[in-house]
Amino acid sequence: MRIFSGIQPTGRKHLGNYIGAVEQYVAGQQRGDGIYCIVDLHAITVPYDPAQLRRDVYDLAAVLLAAGIEPQRSILLRQSDVAEHTELQWLLMSSTAYGELTRMTQFKDKSAQHEFISAGLFGYPVLMAADILLYRTDQVPVGDDQRQHVELTRDVAQRFNARFGEVLVIPEGYYPPVGARIMDLQNPERKMSTTGGSPQGTVYVTDEPDVIIKKFRTAVTDSGREIRHHRDKPGVSNLLEILAAVRSSSVQELEREFDGVGYGDFKLAVGEAVAGYLAPVRERYAQLRADEPALERELERGAQRARGIASETMRAVREAMGVGRRAG
Ligand code: TYM
Repeated sequence: MRIFSGIQPTGRKHLGNYIGAVEQYVAGQQRGDGIYCIVDLHAITVPYDPAQLRRDVYDLAAVLLAAGIEPQRSILLRQSDVAEHTELQWLLMSSTAYGELTRMTQFKDKSAQHEFISAGLFGYPVLMAADILLYRTDQVPVGDDQRQHVELTRDVAQRFNARFGEVLVIPEGYYPPVGARIMDLQNPERKMSTTGGSPQGTVYVTDEPDVIIKKFRTAVTDSGREIRHHRDKPGVSNLLEILAAVRSSSVQELEREFDGVGYGDFKLAVGEAVAGYLAPVRERYAQLRADEPALERELERGAQRARGIASETMRAVREAMGVGRRAG
């Protein structure tokens, strides 16, 4: 089974990215062949700084390796190193409806945040579809906010196959049972996010333990006193999900364990658990990030392996679409 996912090199990665996605990449290595892609070409669809983008790619490569992605076992690549991603995006554009793209909620959200709305931002989901379909992916581990993009990928692939023959593999989304949507600690109605969240409510993977504990100590709960997972208790529910994910236990077990405990003690327990969970990642990250040439070598090796798979898919796609000269 092939597992593929992509992650943007934009700023520092937060606990939502880590629990909702990165942990799932690491776990995916037990189930199948993983390909994990740092999507720098997605990051350029909104205003950005070129020198910072290069650094962000290395930051993220170091986080992914520190988290436990094993480059001997999985492929770790930088999207822009494999030109087939953009080639397939263009070819898939003709199998994507304009109306489908206008309905994408992330496009609507992001275009509301910027004055200049690039055509790249509009075509973003098609590049994502190309990323996934290029590697004949079976499973795509992502957080809940990517569900609509994964569904679009399936629709585009099905439309392509109906028109040109059974060339593309139809992928399935894989969403973690807890932690697919981690919320901002200060505003639990909103997802944790680097761009749309509050600084105090966003926990970064590389935050110091005391910073993490403080963010949890000041997390918003509610006026009640029960520690229970419920629609009316978004703050407490979010903390329960975070704790369940970092302790690999269930929300129900935690509700029993914390029955009768006050919110202050509960928040401290969650903060300490998260700080302990991220500390080894942060330490490994610091070591790995210090050696940029070694990170570059890993990415280059990943790209080489990825190109082998990508070029075969492209040969079949071009052949089916009647693009270029006939394959020999
Ligand atoms: P990105 O970089 O915004 O986020 C990376 C992953 O983190 C997940 N995530 C969350 N999970 C739980 N709670 C949250 N608050 C939270 N915030 C983010 C995201 O769902 C994602 O899995 N478009 C993608 C990148 C991409 C991609 C792909 C993904 C490009 N090509 C192909 C899968 C397959 C994105 O912007 O992710």
